[in-house]
Amino acid sequence: MPNDSLSLYIHIPWCLHKCGYCDFNSHATAANAFPEDDYVTALIADLMLGKDELQGRSVQSIFIGGGTPSLFSAAAISKILNACQQQLNLSSDCEITLETNPGTFEAEKFAGFKLAGVNRLSIGVQSFDPEQLKKLERIHGRDEALHTVRTAQQLGFENINIDLMFALPGQTLAQALDDVAQACALALPHLSYYQLTIEPNTRFHRFPPVIPSLDEAADIQAAAMSAISAAGYTRYEVSAFSKIGAQCRHNLNYWQFGDYLGIGAGAHSKLTVDQESKRFQRVRQPSSYLLAVKEQTQVIQLRTLGSNDLIFEFMLNQLRLRRGFSAADFAQRTHLNWQDIAIQVERLLALGHLEQSEGRYFASEHAYRFLDSLLQEFLVETP
Ligand SMILES: C[S@@+](CC[C@H](N)C(=O)[O-])C[C@H]1O[C@@H](n2cnc3c(N)ncnc32)[C@H](O)[C@@H]1O
Ligand code: SF4
Repeated sequence: MPNDSLSLYIHIPWCLHKCGYCDFNSHATAANAFPEDDYVTALIADLMLGKDELQGRSVQSIFIGGGTPSLFSAAAISKILNACQQQLNLSSDCEITLETNPGTFEAEKFAGFKLAGVNRLSIGVQSFDPEQLKKLERIHGRDEALHTVRTAQQLGFENINIDLMFALPGQTLAQALDDVAQACALALPHLSYYQLTIEPNTRFHRFPPVIPSLDEAADIQAAAMSAISAAGYTRYEVSAFSKIGAQCRHNLNYWQFGDYLGIGAGAHSKLTVDQESKRFQRVRQPSSYLLAVKEQTQVIQLRTLGSNDLIFEFMLNQLRLRRGFSAADFAQRTHLNWQDIAIQVERLLALGHLEQSEGRYFASEHAYRFLDSLLQEFLVETP
């Protein structure tokens, strides 16, 4: 990816049901009860304002995430992507992902997404077990998930990811491996495999289901990793697995600590201008966001990253990548000197927590399972 790689994230904040485990900025809506037209208009206005920050840099990827972007009509997605095409310098091979929930699948609509320019789908399957899908409060069953994947393929989508979660309520090792086997049997280019976390401010937090213990979850993860790699996938990030050449370019840019503009309710941005990296966030509540865009006050929480932030955030992202980072990556992304981390890196190498090969530094197999501890080494409290 070129030095000035840049991504665009577009947030769609509505879902047909708020799943009990989810703490994303997503809000339940009845079908057709969300302000699609107003939101598209707001997104385009937001883009027009935000694009100045990009200074004409080439955009390598667009990710339309949520919430449930597949709730939106193909015409709405097309309008948004047309505006991107007109206002931004999109690379000719720009990866354009749309997050989809199988409970919103309609073949005609998805054909329209493809015509609009979407060339990658990320499908939230979570599990193939009908009982588990009910416990997770998903609005779809196993058959709808399979139908979504197969029909998307028939429509010509080649670049498809599915999201699966593990350590689910009451899940046994055998059940988790059955999910993995069914996912691998689809032979898709990409698989995301997340451990269910019980997040504050969710129904699962208020009424905790019984989930596998940490040891049981670790056993599930280890067995699942073996099965996924036996099926021909490479784990390139903590939760991301791909066939050759199918890594998610958009997420890779985050993990490489690249720049991105985020538009839409609550979206985050990180942009570097004149070697100074800044973070922004859009107003979070959809209704407040719509108002704020009208008044051009949607951009909030401006923060310039100091050297301690840069070091920590660089490591937080890059160490998630199995291949880690090089000295050149560090210099390019942080504009700091290697001396700023040399002592910590040497100590971690001596302890065997970091390894070095062909000019790259990456977590040892053991330390990769405990990245939070590894990161403590790079945490310096800013007074
Ligand atoms: C924004 S959602 C994906 C698209 C769509 N909203 C859906 O759920 O089908 C992103 C993914 O994050 C994962 N996820 C959400 N909440 C999680 C949690 N508490 N623990 C682990 N993974 C979670 C799920 O796999 C989900 O598909
Ligand atoms: S559908 Fe996806 S974004 Fe919406 S509540 Fe469920 S997990 Fe969250």
